Amino acid sequence: MNNVVLITGSGSGIGRAIALRFAKHGNPVVVNDIARETGEQVVSEIERNGGKGIFILADVSDVTQVKKMFGETKEKFGRVDVLINNAGVPGTFSLIADMPDETWHKTMSVHLNGTFYCMREAARMMILSGWGRIINIASIAGLMGTVGSGEYAAAKAGIISLTKTAAKELGPYNITVNAIAPGMVGTPTNLKLRDKGSPFIETAEKGIPTGRMTTPEEIAELLLFICSSTLSNINGQVICVDGGAEISISMDSFMLDFLTGKSSILKEKEHSK
Ligand SMILES: NC(=O)c1ccc[n+]([C@@H]2O[C@H](COP(=O)([O-])OP(=O)(O)OC[C@H]3O[C@@H](n4cnc5c(N)ncnc54)[C@H](O)[C@@H]3O)[C@@H](O)[C@H]2O)c1
Repeated sequence: MNNVVLITGSGSGIGRAIALRFAKHGNPVVVNDIARETGEQVVSEIERNGGKGIFILADVSDVTQVKKMFGETKEKFGRVDVLINNAGVPGTFSLIADMPDETWHKTMSVHLNGTFYCMREAARMMILSGWGRIINIASIAGLMGTVGSGEYAAAKAGIISLTKTAAKELGPYNITVNAIAPGMVGTPTNLKLRDKGSPFIETAEKGIPTGRMTTPEEIAELLLFICSSTLSNINGQVICVDGGAEISISMDSFMLDFLTGKSSILKEKEHSK
């Protein structure tokens, strides 16, 4: 494989694992992040393993920075063959009744606007080159809704919808567009929380039929599979990688109890009785 692969938010977690895996498979990789230090570390790791990579500092929620990033990639590698929209911010643990405007706008701008801006630039390049793969990292939250992260779930649902439209529009040009919907992933952040005995992680893990989180490496492996040249007819799909969590018991009742106790509006209601 010698595809130019751009992965947003690949300085850590799932994106890092994807960048390392595609580079190991012989693809030139563009590591993008808003965090320079970790992004550059991933590129160093790629180079130490004999791969090719560059780091581009860009905020995907800023359309000017996104255009510049695609321009720089074209200058360096000539094109983008694979785009993986992975950059994201976590859910904020806030009931809708308590949610500040900034929380909503921040999440929408990174996840949904960022995915749209990058997808549009990639589509323009891929239509001209005649081949492409776009994979958007959504979440099972985008399929189920999730108590305490309404903004995150809505952004991910938007990403899923955008994926399906793009699959219809770009399919005729030999470009497939799919979404991956992970459940809880064993990223360093989540593993640290688990080690600290987080009840959030413990409850979530109990709801996974296979009894474990997905590893970032498993997600990377699936993406490589979807991008293989022999697999050109998987298009417009949402692939859950969650150990069966989406079809299992949700942790919503746990989150509802947890956040109800912290909610200022619900406290106000209690006092007014
Ligand atoms: N970890 C999970 O359990 C899980 C589950 C489902 C979906 N996801 C999704 O997977 C993706 C990666 O998550 P992760 O757990 O690896 O998170 P992470 O925090 O480890 O990595 C996200 C990366 O995105 C970068 N980033 C944030 N805002 C950015 C911006 N505006 N522009 C460019 N880069 C930006 C961060 O600096 C960070 O390096 C996210 O889209 C997340 O919503 C994660």
